[in-house]
Amino acid sequence: MNMFVTKLDHKWISLTLGQPWITAMAASKVQFSTLPPEPVIPSKKPFRVELVGGKRYSWCTCGHSKKQPFCDGAHKTKAQGLSPLRFVPEKDSTVWLCGCKYTNNPPYCDGTHKQDFIMSAPLHEQTDS
Ligand code: FES
Repeated sequence: MNMFVTKLDHKWISLTLGQPWITAMAASKVQFSTLPPEPVIPSKKPFRVELVGGKRYSWCTCGHSKKQPFCDGAHKTKAQGLSPLRFVPEKDSTVWLCGCKYTNNPPYCDGTHKQDFIMSAPLHEQTDS
């Protein structure tokens, strides 16, 4: 303890000593993060989809949608900070859209679902809530 503390320093010391306690209390109740949430894994396989050229699609990025691989708005309540990937194919085509949500070439499957971190991860079960 500082031996040169005066009466004027008392308030500063009280605040300083109290601060770690306040910080610890706040940290246990509040998560400080600016990172978006991680997506859940609704499928460990891609979805074969026939796309219509010129049509706008919204690919689910959070994994909570019940209309996989497309968005149903579930991210608004279950994964705030994530939003769907919107895309418009140039022409009619049959593609494989990612179902694991960890592709490096969204919205298309790039084989990432075959990696250990996906294969060993739990599959997300959709709920009604
Ligand atoms: S299903 Fe996601 S990379 Fe294949």
